[in-house]
Amino acid sequence: MAAGGAGGIPLLLLLVLVVPGVLPQGAAERRCFCQVTGYLDDCTCDVETIDAFNNYKLFPRLNQLLESDYFRYYKVNLKKPCPFWDDNSHCGMRDCAVQPCPSDEVPDGIRSGSYKYSEEANNRDGECEEAERLGAVDDSLSTETREAVLQWTRHDDSSESFCEADDIYSPDAEYVDLLLNPERYTGYKGPDAWKIWNSIYEENCFKPQNVKRPLASGRGDDGGHTFYKWLKGVCVEKRAFYRLISGLHASINIHLSARYLLQDTWSEKRWGPNVTEFQQRFDEVLTRGEGPRRLKNLYFLYLIELRALSKVLPFFERPGFRLYTGNESQDVEMKDLLLEILHLAKSFPLHFDENSFFAGNKKEAAKLKEEFRLHFKNISKIMDCVGCFKCRLWGKLQTQGLGTALKILFSENLIEKMPESGPSYGFQLTRQEIVALFNAFGRVSTSVKELENFRNILQNMR
Ligand SMILES: *[C@@H]1O[C@H](CO)[C@@H](O)[C@H](O)[C@H]1NC(C)=O
Ligand SMILES: *[C@@H]1O[C@H](CO)[C@@H](O)[C@H](O)[C@H]1NC(C)=O
Ligand SMILES: *[C@@H]1O[C@H](CO)[C@@H](O)[C@H](O)[C@H]1NC(C)=O
Repeated sequence: MAAGGAGGIPLLLLLVLVVPGVLPQGAAERRCFCQVTGYLDDCTCDVETIDAFNNYKLFPRLNQLLESDYFRYYKVNLKKPCPFWDDNSHCGMRDCAVQPCPSDEVPDGIRSGSYKYSEEANNRDGECEEAERLGAVDDSLSTETREAVLQWTRHDDSSESFCEADDIYSPDAEYVDLLLNPERYTGYKGPDAWKIWNSIYEENCFKPQNVKRPLASGRGDDGGHTFYKWLKGVCVEKRAFYRLISGLHASINIHLSARYLLQDTWSEKRWGPNVTEFQQRFDEVLTRGEGPRRLKNLYFLYLIELRALSKVLPFFERPGFRLYTGNESQDVEMKDLLLEILHLAKSFPLHFDENSFFAGNKKEAAKLKEEFRLHFKNISKIMDCVGCFKCRLWGKLQTQGLGTALKILFSENLIEKMPESGPSYGFQLTRQEIVALFNAFGRVSTSVKELENFRNILQNMR
């Protein structure tokens, strides 16, 4: 997904009115970050604590985990047609291309693992197909595991899922090596990218049509006044939904600014930070106050995903869970690292107050969960409309990751009740969900880290 720049038209207009060079450069750092300090809304956490925790503790470990075989291969169907409108494909653009892996490069364990090591939660899409394969369950599986396998094929997952998952058995679904296809600037922006974000915000974020988003084009733009009044009035969960989407948008735009195509000649391609691009998206003046709010939403997204990681620890801690790739020593090593990361997430002192979140009375909470799920599911379908393969890949992965985080947060009771061994009746994660969850969090964690870099660059511009 890419580069929408909330409200492309007014941004252009603004640039005409306020040329960056005319602004006192000394204030540049302050203008992006002045409001992004201290306490965050809707939680009891401050930005500085997150920065220190993420940049020095979590980020390095997470990065190491994501380089492992288990986490680098993600199966995705990039050929699904857009269900909502005729997409105007940019997939021919060179920097948008995604290189799928020849399947012999994908470790055997990952390719076959989906039905061999099922208790460890691999895929359960296509239940009939799966059940057929399960008829031939490998005899080396323990009785316990085999029972678990049968258990979860019976369990209907569809009511729990927050995303429209790709059918990974479709001939169009291919493994992609995420390390070889990094998320970075692709040139996909302008009206097409804007359309994606616009339909997400306008049609899928609980917002009534008559409330205009800040910086939206056309009449009724009152500098976000009506919008923020509306946002303040809705329940904390719906506000959270909007903030998560905005945080995701901010995170993606930080990556595109941090890995901008700076030099593109026949001899060299160089990606690196582009401060101008960053300022156009996050500078307080250039964005009429929206930039710092977007950055705060990024931290909010970070906290939600961190919370989900800390909650899902019991699922991964079970002795039966394995990160199965076929390389035994690596699998053990990576599981240890995974658990270290989850314990670290759990140790974070300032998780937001969950009592105010996804709580409320039971009936209301169930209704809200259902609304959340349907909205989010629709957003995951919109990802098939992203007209650039690279952006579509990362868009799908990040929405699936966030969807998985939400599924975890809404399944707290089931996770707590999970037995140490044997079938985990109510709660399962597929390998795809696991890979998406950690890679999506890796993206947000990288964004927080990149902010430090931009802050330093802006400081030195004085
Ligand atoms: C899903 O998203 C599309 C595209 O934005 C929109 O037209 C449609 O109304 C949405 N459907 C639901 C059920 O929210
Ligand atoms: C940085 O981004 C701006 C647009 O935001 C672009 O005009 C400029 O050429 C970019 N700088 C480099 C060095 O690519
Ligand atoms: C298994 O992984 C380890 C690294 O964790 C590596 O050193 C070793 O060569 C791998 N073994 C095989 C058979 O690929």
